[in-house]
Amino acid sequence: MRGMKRREDDTVRAVDWVDGHLRLLDQRRLPESVGYIDCYGLDETALAIADMVVRGAPAIGITAAYGIVLAARACFAGDPLQWKVRFLDELAVLGKARPTAVNLAWAIRRMSRFAETLEGSPEAALLAEATRIHEQDIEANYRMGDLGSGLIDGGAVLTHCNAGALATGGYGTALGVVRSAWKSGKITGVFADETRPWLQGSRLTAWELVQEGIPVTLLCEGASASLLRRGGVSWVVVGADRVAANGDVANKVGTYGLALHARRHGVGFMVVAPTSTVDMGSADGDAIPVEQRPEDEVLRFAGHRLAPEGTRAWNPVFDTTPADLVDALVTERGVILRPDTGNLARLMAA
Ligand code: MRU
Repeated sequence: MRGMKRREDDTVRAVDWVDGHLRLLDQRRLPESVGYIDCYGLDETALAIADMVVRGAPAIGITAAYGIVLAARACFAGDPLQWKVRFLDELAVLGKARPTAVNLAWAIRRMSRFAETLEGSPEAALLAEATRIHEQDIEANYRMGDLGSGLIDGGAVLTHCNAGALATGGYGTALGVVRSAWKSGKITGVFADETRPWLQGSRLTAWELVQEGIPVTLLCEGASASLLRRGGVSWVVVGADRVAANGDVANKVGTYGLALHARRHGVGFMVVAPTSTVDMGSADGDAIPVEQRPEDEVLRFAGHRLAPEGTRAWNPVFDTTPADLVDALVTERGVILRPDTGNLARLMAA
């Protein structure tokens, strides 16, 4: 990755391949400190995904791809003849690290199919494939950034969670649209939901935008309905963890509410996601597994208990927005207005 050419506005790298191993920007510590976690094996990689060192659907997929290079290296060193048997077992474990973001399964499938074709030491070829996945993701983000920006005609935008450079190979999906729209003078600024309980909005989205001088205003997500009623926001722009075959969209919990509010107040609702996030194997949103994370993420904050002992918490970290609330689905292959089973099938077949 070190050799990859970077454009001037491609400034943040959450995932990198450095000196023969995987390096992850530790997103749990942002914005207080910029620190890295080095992964030398697949177990550490899977743990980093499960523990939110790296998060965001495309970034999880790219991390998995590099982790698979590490797995192949270890398996081949252990048994150069039969290495693929253990390798495939290890990939099955990796696939369970987080269930909703389909980019994880997508990257595992692409890397394992490629591995099946290899003879001899697999490391160099697999690293080249992982790097291709990474580069293609960045290219897709630039393309989606311009396509999504083309739909915007003034006002501010509201985003949820972090679908920026930190959540992808670089540049971002929803924040790619924001970057492109800001550069071409189409938006006045960005409202960002703080995004409980991990605060991806206040910690990560604000961090990215402040560094680039894009005006950002934070709000508790409970305030977003009032913001949309007040006027001045032209589009809600979000990413996705999985888009089902009928166009239903799984994304950070709270996205569904935003889509309802946007429709009620005549504000556009745009989902920006590469085709690696589209899962034609999930017929609709009900088929998408929604990750439940520990209750303590809600009951505690920064180590302090907030709720009285005896309180339970419900912590689904994603929700599903029905396709009929989506005004535009922006992918690197093009834009679909009002996605449904037919137009999404045509796009995926193209
Ligand atoms: O729990 P997270 O932080 O991994 O959730 C991330 C999101 O919901 C993003 O919106 C989604 O993965 C798209 S990132 C381009």
